[in-house]
Amino acid sequence: MADEPARSPENVTRRSALRTGAAAGAGLAALGIGQGIAGAEPASGIGEDARSWPKPRGASMMGVPFEARDTVRIGIIGLGNRGASMLPLFLAVPNVRVTAVCDINAEFVAKASATITKAGHPAPATCTGGDHAYEQLVRRDDIDFVYLATPWEWHTPMALAAMRAGKHVGSECPIATTIPDMWELVNTSEQTRRHCLQLENCCYGKNELRVLRMAHEGLFGELLHGSGAYLHDLRELLFSDTYYQGQWRRAWHTKVNGDLYPTHGLGPVASYLDINRGDRLVRMTSMSTPALGLADYRAQHVPAGDPRWRERYVDGDVTMSLLQTEKGRVIHLVHGVSNPHPYSRLNHLAGTKGVFEDYPARIYLEPTHSHDTWGSFEDFKNYDHWLWKDIGPGPGGHGGMDYLMLYRLAQTIRLGLAPDMDVYDAAAWNAPFALSAMSVRLGGAPIPFPDFTRGRWKTPHPGTDSPKPG
Ligand SMILES: NC(=O)c1ccc[n+]([C@@H]2O[C@H](COP(=O)([O-])OP(=O)(O)OC[C@H]3O[C@@H](n4cnc5c(N)ncnc54)[C@H](O)[C@@H]3O)[C@@H](O)[C@H]2O)c1
Repeated sequence: MADEPARSPENVTRRSALRTGAAAGAGLAALGIGQGIAGAEPASGIGEDARSWPKPRGASMMGVPFEARDTVRIGIIGLGNRGASMLPLFLAVPNVRVTAVCDINAEFVAKASATITKAGHPAPATCTGGDHAYEQLVRRDDIDFVYLATPWEWHTPMALAAMRAGKHVGSECPIATTIPDMWELVNTSEQTRRHCLQLENCCYGKNELRVLRMAHEGLFGELLHGSGAYLHDLRELLFSDTYYQGQWRRAWHTKVNGDLYPTHGLGPVASYLDINRGDRLVRMTSMSTPALGLADYRAQHVPAGDPRWRERYVDGDVTMSLLQTEKGRVIHLVHGVSNPHPYSRLNHLAGTKGVFEDYPARIYLEPTHSHDTWGSFEDFKNYDHWLWKDIGPGPGGHGGMDYLMLYRLAQTIRLGLAPDMDVYDAAAWNAPFALSAMSVRLGGAPIPFPDFTRGRWKTPHPGTDSPKPG
């Protein structure tokens, strides 16, 4: 309409943003992924302003220390590709015991138990026999921290059950896929005083931690924008009969059109920009390309008559989002797993004094670099995080970041420190799953971001740029 102002972050009024949020809620409810988003009055109900924050059930969990203990006792739920590959890394961390393991697949449980005893550790308790066997594991009294590596749809119910049974919990990505579930994780963490973490291994990458240290030392000047992504050609794995148990991951591509895996890209960039520690995400807008890649792959590799021909893929091959922060900075977030593309998380940061870009790593900072010529990132290795200088890379797992994440997690528990990331980070990093689907459905409309901290986003508290414990 002629008198409708053009939509831009600057001129979207709160009222129009709220209208957008309410419409989006209705749209997502139809998609079956955003139940409750539009439910609360007087605002849109996603929690973007104080009037719509759900009532807190306890004090904030920011900076709350773990209770110190000599040995850290871990329970693992989900022993497929990820759980089974993380198990030896847990066993390699000093003073960690894996005391219980669970999977619906009894063979996987037996194999995990054998891995533990072969490593010279006591045999774990085992839980199997059905989708809810995990409830036995979370109730045990020999577990301090529950690690989840199950299909995405199980992460929230399992995390809630673990906290309600008195356990701290950390999940593989994404820990939640709807805004109401993210609020429920926040509320339950505050109520039970248990930590609920998105275990985002990419925050512990060598380049990511070096860039983070350099950003905090002021080498980039005032920070302006960054990019993060999950660009990973998963077509072969998504169509494998054996890789994802029950082929759960391809099923998501038939249900949601949006960024299905935001945290690998967003977690590190959110750390650079001190999100929840001085800045916060306020709105995002997303657009998806057509969904062609999986159907194209199926046409080439799946015989006619196979049940997979009944599937309709709706997730756009690439979803691109722009997220704006309270300080006006911009994050570019990309998801793409359905086309040929060399692996990349983009991992880019720019400020008033220069820029870093990854894949491959290169840097351009005044006054060192000039004349449009990138410099070597290795020249800045003295900025490496102490985890990489003194501990890493350790054994296996994405070049070492998996081990370092577990090492640091266990260290914070052992020493009774606050974790490097908390439930507010988990909610903020995962919100783009639901918000991108909402924005895509509304043709790229800006969607307000929930403030899961309930106004505490300026509070400085521990993050991944941690000091080395004495
Ligand atoms: N951070 C990373 O770099 C990284 C890498 C790979 C996978 N992941 C994440 O790890 C998670 C698991 O992925 P995966 O590749 O291992 O999938 P997978 O299918 O190989 O493993 C999932 C396991 O969960 C089990 N399971 C399913 N329902 C269960 C239930 N109700 N109770 C107990 N066990 C149950 C399955 O039997 C299976 O063994 C996903 O969230 C994925 O996105 C993260």
